[in-house]
Amino acid sequence: TQQVTFYEAVGGEETFRRLVHRFYQGVADDPLLRPLYPEEDLGPAEERLRLFLIQYWGGPNTYNQLRGHPRLRMRHVPFVIGEAERDAWLRHMREAVDELALPEQLDKMLWDYFTMAAHSMVNAPS
Ligand code: HEM
Repeated sequence: TQQVTFYEAVGGEETFRRLVHRFYQGVADDPLLRPLYPEEDLGPAEERLRLFLIQYWGGPNTYNQLRGHPRLRMRHVPFVIGEAERDAWLRHMREAVDELALPEQLDKMLWDYFTMAAHSMVNAPS
């Protein structure tokens, strides 16, 4: 029997490309979040998040090949992330998820993961 991954169920690479692209359009205009990103070009950051999410949800493991083990909390230590940054991140991600118009159950799985992950990335609680 063949297991359909979440990655496949939501439409594969194209869906993650749209999601993360829309998310970074929000970040690009955000006065709180934009200064956190070290590079002037958000393209490379967009690619890293896209590849990470594709891998996390059962798609190709290109992220690990390029970047090694995710260790996301550790990789975020250089950036001051408080509740305000977390909420801004989640707001842009919510808009990006909305645009995918996924079936309710898939939307909920994705959103539950993002809220959990974003809460775990806070390293400067107020
Ligand atoms: C990288 C901010 C939450 C996944 C980054 C970077 C910043 C950042 C500034 C560096 C950009 C770059 O790659 O050059 C934040 C803030 C968050 C947050 C403010 C608010 C809570 C998350 C969450 C996830 C995530 C929830 C996963 C679901 C990633 C990944 C990278 C990254 C995969 C690239 C890691 C690497 O390979 O170097 N983030 N992030 N972030 N973030 Fe976040």
